[in-house]
Amino acid sequence: MSRGSFRLRCKGRAEEMQEVLSPKGTIFLFGGRQLGKSSLLRQAVEVFQKADPDRHIAVYIDLLKADIGHAEPPEGIWRVLLAELKRRGVIGANVSDRAAGVDVIADAVQQWIEAGPGRRVLVLADEADAFLTADAQAVYTGGGQSTFRTVKRLQRLMETTNRSFKVVFAGLHQVQRFNHLTNVVTAHGGPGILVGPLKPQAAVGLVEEPLAAVGLTFETPDLVWHILGVTNYQANLVQIFCDHLVAYMQQRAMPTSGCHAPITWDDVQAVANLERVRELIAERLRYTINLEDRYRVLTLLVALRSLEHGYAHASRPSELLEAAHEIWQEGFPLNSERQLTIFLDEMVGLGLLIRVPGEERAYAMRSPNVVNMLGTQNELQSELNDTEFDLPYDYNPRAARRSIGSPGGVQRMSPLTEGQFGDMLGHPTRTTLVPCTRALGDDHVERGLRLYGGGYGLDIIGVAPGDSLTDAITANSRRKSSRVLFVDLRGRDADEVREAAERLVKHTGGTPPDSDAAPGASRRYAVVLCSPDAAGEAVETGAGHVLPERWTVDSVRAWPESPFGSPQERRALMDSTGGWPGLVETAMHNVRSGMRQKEVLQGLRERLETPDAATAHLRAAGLTSADVSLLTSWAQFYSDEEYADGKAVMTPGDLAAAFLDKSGDDSLEAAEHLLKRLDGLAVLDPDKHGGVRLDPVTFRALKTIEPAQ
Ligand SMILES: Nc1ncnc2c1ncn2[C@@H]1O[C@H](COP(=O)(O)OP(=O)(O)O)[C@@H](O)[C@H]1O
Ligand SMILES: [Mg+2]
Repeated sequence: MSRGSFRLRCKGRAEEMQEVLSPKGTIFLFGGRQLGKSSLLRQAVEVFQKADPDRHIAVYIDLLKADIGHAEPPEGIWRVLLAELKRRGVIGANVSDRAAGVDVIADAVQQWIEAGPGRRVLVLADEADAFLTADAQAVYTGGGQSTFRTVKRLQRLMETTNRSFKVVFAGLHQVQRFNHLTNVVTAHGGPGILVGPLKPQAAVGLVEEPLAAVGLTFETPDLVWHILGVTNYQANLVQIFCDHLVAYMQQRAMPTSGCHAPITWDDVQAVANLERVRELIAERLRYTINLEDRYRVLTLLVALRSLEHGYAHASRPSELLEAAHEIWQEGFPLNSERQLTIFLDEMVGLGLLIRVPGEERAYAMRSPNVVNMLGTQNELQSELNDTEFDLPYDYNPRAARRSIGSPGGVQRMSPLTEGQFGDMLGHPTRTTLVPCTRALGDDHVERGLRLYGGGYGLDIIGVAPGDSLTDAITANSRRKSSRVLFVDLRGRDADEVREAAERLVKHTGGTPPDSDAAPGASRRYAVVLCSPDAAGEAVETGAGHVLPERWTVDSVRAWPESPFGSPQERRALMDSTGGWPGLVETAMHNVRSGMRQKEVLQGLRERLETPDAATAHLRAAGLTSADVSLLTSWAQFYSDEEYADGKAVMTPGDLAAAFLDKSGDDSLEAAEHLLKRLDGLAVLDPDKHGGVRLDPVTFRALKTIEPAQ
């Protein structure tokens, strides 16, 4: 049986469900990764609509996917709501998408609700962290500053409809920490609801029912409790365990009676000891712990203490602070004990710790299995000593990229960052070149631009490779709205690109900056997609250049909800993917679909080590056959170890000496030229000792194919 073939309905969340559905119930749901928030919301959609199909409308919005709070401002939620409510007939199709302001939308919702008794609209806004973080920022308005503008406006609609309209936001745990947020929340219907590990009865059902559905039963009931202990009552872990248990039982020959023998202690033990199961559980427990490094340090400390002093050993906040400060001073300043107890209480909510009953505040691990899954005493100690811990990541437009959808099921990200799109609109000539190779994601530049432009009300007008630029410019001169000509000149040579850039600069940048200070004045922009080798000469035209980049250990922190959380994990990701967008996207996708990080990265490397894949990569990266034959011989000089040690530095002198005619300035010049080209293709990484080297994927690809003789 394949993994996940018996995904159950959301189990055992009756109280939480009640809170979500009830008009007066909570509007905030919190909980760690994978504890069941999304499952709860999706089930709420069904339950709510089934209760009264004619008068109940439920809308599920994934704010992260819609990029709201990252690329889109928080108000963006209204646009998504408008589209969805139009589709569902709550708002008339005659309301225009562009013109409808927040008040128009809110009024339309109110009118629909008031037009018939019993009408209700429930909005389930999932992955709301970035949205809330962004909305919490003060916005300067005419009358001063305000925070939570969008949340407050939604709440006003809730109040004016007597909560027949209701929004529920779901997010990770730390959202709870906003002070402002607490004010907003307490004014309206109580604190948020925590979605944590399952309660025992529900958890038992989650183990027994799917197994019963395939004809499996347990020899004794305590086996179920054992499974729950191993999985820490976390629904996602229970599922992983049971999927493997089913597979294990079904591998055995079916007895002639046609019934399976009951599951025994030995069977459960055998599954619990499968390396794959242990690693999956350990990795997923770490999702919660890795929500932020302060959780991680505290978990490791409490776990170590329980290994030293017995599992039930309780630690006081002051002791933990002292130890944590020693390990990570920035993360745990000495005067932060109150903050520390907030973290500890959050960890209780996440199902990692328990608060030990008694007068004094003290905390212990929730279960010995969690400790075992984290590692041995030595492993935990060295993790504490050797890890560089990170403070939580803040939004950074220079690294953040928007998601451009999931063609073929794999989530793709824009090849350009938000900051780079900003640069395009900010450039004085308003014409920008984007030199981009296939490996850097040239096929996705236009889509990223369209999504970005959409947020600013810019029309994007595509000029395909075969179209006449003259016609496009003429037609564009007559248009009234602000718009961007997107000109695809991939594969054209440097002369053509320069000539096009010249004409476009004239077309877009003809007006001095002051003349369009008038608000609402329409503007022309142009973006030229071309190959890196053809971009050089266009510099003289004054057009801007925006260079797509590979992901790095640092920039990949901006990947929303990346499962590669720690610096080590991010480094492993970069080492196997080189940060090449397509490979990073595949890795993210595979880990999200349930594979282990190690497997995923190993799989990618093995695939790239076949000659076909290696050749395909080199071609996609923009290397010519001449480059390849030169560089293959170069790469053979270095072993993988030497590369890892930073010995494979490329200097013009070395390159010249190695391949080009051994003497003379010409060869040095040729080497410098080659390095510059490689830099334009983004296949060079800074080396740790200064200098540059090839990125790891390109390096290995060159080593994979035979050097041409
Ligand atoms: N109450 C539940 N009953 C059954 N399965 C659940 C339950 N809660 C979560 N799961 C399973 O656990 C996994 C993670 O749940 P999800 O709702 O995506 O978590 P979150 O949104 O909190 O990250 C999913 O595979 C889901 O099917
Ligand atoms: Mg979720």
